[in-house]
Amino acid sequence: MRKIQYGTNPPVWIVAKKIHALIDSDLFYIDTVRKYPDNHMKKVEIAKQEYHENARPELAKPVENMSDYDVILIGYPIWHGRMPQAIYSFIESYDLAGKTVIPFNTHEGSGQSGTQQVIENALPGCAVLQGLAIQGKTAQENETRTRELLTDWLAGLKLLK
Ligand SMILES: Cc1cc2nc3c(=O)[nH]c(=O)nc-3n(C[C@H](O)[C@H](O)[C@H](O)COP(=O)(O)O)c2cc1C
Repeated sequence: MRKIQYGTNPPVWIVAKKIHALIDSDLFYIDTVRKYPDNHMKKVEIAKQEYHENARPELAKPVENMSDYDVILIGYPIWHGRMPQAIYSFIESYDLAGKTVIPFNTHEGSGQSGTQQVIENALPGCAVLQGLAIQGKTAQENETRTRELLTDWLAGLKLLK
């Protein structure tokens, strides 16, 4: 089985850092107070439980100056065909009305898994632009391909530096 690197450098964070290098942006890690275990099965259990409870996991720190930003790219892995519940915690922590939101995600086969629509529905006051799904394995193992996918996508959004 392929070893997935968890902890503070999950595939979606690899993608986030690459996006940050390609566009004029600040970078923020959506971290939770309760840490998710490295053990895949244990993590699956916690993620499932949080989904069934429609939980809003507590976030470790806020973005202090959210009002300074007009465009927010929100990245997450697909867990059980959905975005992690912590993403709801994040988007519900701020008044994002009037902002442009762009999702991106990692996955291992589910693509966006309907999360573009979920985010559009959750943020009716925002302009939600077309997001990008990248396989986590690609983000971890194929830097050239990842850069290519990101460059094309960000050029289409007119965000490239
Ligand atoms: C709890 C859990 C559930 C997952 N469910 C899915 C899924 O439904 N569809 C999919 O394509 N990938 C799924 N994955 C794979 C992740 O989306 C992918 O490996 C991602 O790049 C890394 O996730 P991580 O940041 O949690 O390590 C799941 C991973 C975890 C840990």
